[in-house]
Amino acid sequence: MAARTRSKHRLADGTPLRELVRVEEGRIAARVFTDPEIYQLELERIFLRCWLAVAHESEIPHPGDYVTRRMGEDPVIVVRDREGQIHVLLNSCTHRGAEVCRVSRGNAREFVCPYHGYRFHLDGELAGAPAHEWAYDQQFDRKAFTLHRARVGTYGGLIFATWDVSAPPLEEYLGDMRWYLDLLLKRTEGGVEVVGAPHRWIIEANWKTGADNFIGDGLHTFMTHRYAIELGVLPNDPLIGWFGWHISVGRGHGVAIVGAPERIPLPPYLGLPQELWPLLERALTDAQRRILERTATVHGTVFPNLSLLNTTTIATEEGMPRVPFLTLRVWIPLGPHRMEILSWFLVEKEGPEWYKEASRKNYERTFGLTGTFEEDDADIWVSLTRANRGAFARKYHVFNYEMGLHRQPRPRTEWPGPGEAYWGDYCEANQRTFWAQWRRLMTEDRG
Ligand code: FES
Ligand code: FE
Repeated sequence: MAARTRSKHRLADGTPLRELVRVEEGRIAARVFTDPEIYQLELERIFLRCWLAVAHESEIPHPGDYVTRRMGEDPVIVVRDREGQIHVLLNSCTHRGAEVCRVSRGNAREFVCPYHGYRFHLDGELAGAPAHEWAYDQQFDRKAFTLHRARVGTYGGLIFATWDVSAPPLEEYLGDMRWYLDLLLKRTEGGVEVVGAPHRWIIEANWKTGADNFIGDGLHTFMTHRYAIELGVLPNDPLIGWFGWHISVGRGHGVAIVGAPERIPLPPYLGLPQELWPLLERALTDAQRRILERTATVHGTVFPNLSLLNTTTIATEEGMPRVPFLTLRVWIPLGPHRMEILSWFLVEKEGPEWYKEASRKNYERTFGLTGTFEEDDADIWVSLTRANRGAFARKYHVFNYEMGLHRQPRPRTEWPGPGEAYWGDYCEANQRTFWAQWRRLMTEDRG
């Protein structure tokens, strides 16, 4: 038993997993980003256990609406049944495993497997098969061949699912992150909705490069997005991303709320249109409203692979209003050196049309599929993955996560929200929170 337990904590070459992630010292081994053995363990120990974001309710508003997504590498169908209930089903037939649904979205009365024709109800239950009475015995137990169902939970319209029957309820899993999600998803009574289909693209980078960047990498803005500074879109100031709060909320979740020095004017509420202000003031608590009043950017990650960005500081067209945009994205693992990025654009349902249109344009030009900022980041994440695949880097290279290691969280009198709040977004507390949770799950004694 002792030998079995020990081996769970070590890689095949004997390296203890724990030694690779020394958050207390601010050291993370390069290997965790590129090692195929670690990647396989992540699929089991992280993607089989966590709540994973798969869709937004506004993508499947009507009975029969569905989208196909992934939980880790496992393909799933996210579908609303006739009664309005949402199901997340493994998209693999219980007969011989063919993909039951092969398009990315649509509306269905049932799902029919393209291989031998098993038919499934929208809740995943097997409805029948061709020549059923001839092909199978009377004893054939249809219920035993229901598509695998994940547990489903929703928050602020976002649909999450988990395969883990013993996982805590979604609300508990999100914990204090809910308070910050509310700032984005529930700041008006109607909330936000997804516009169009999400953008999806594949890059040759490990999935954690995106999660790690969005959870709190304020420092890269001045360098990675240098072109925007040279064009005058962003201020030429190395402290551009410093003026903000970096908040670790536990369970690997983190958020950063960035403003600007007093001398730089910011539009109220990230530049949301005035028509929405009374709605914000009704939906938010006083503390939440005060925070949003003078904020330029909110970015963060819900462990493991959902990230968010709401920002107003980018103007993409002369004369166009500087309105904010909101994007949520998942970093879907497709191997140690590859991921699919699925990126939603969302906007307040009650927003005026001119704002929705301007916001969508801003998103597409910056963080959409061909967005300039998106390409800057992707290029670096691909290079990071490429530079650390070799035998030497995998064995000896260690990254520096020391930024803000000795900074103390500020008291609630200074920061009114939950979590451990650090002044200054040039900080890696959130990244350390992410990696601590990663280590916890990867070394947990379970099953
Ligand atoms: Fe689906 Fe045979 S694999 S019906
Ligand atoms: Fe970036």
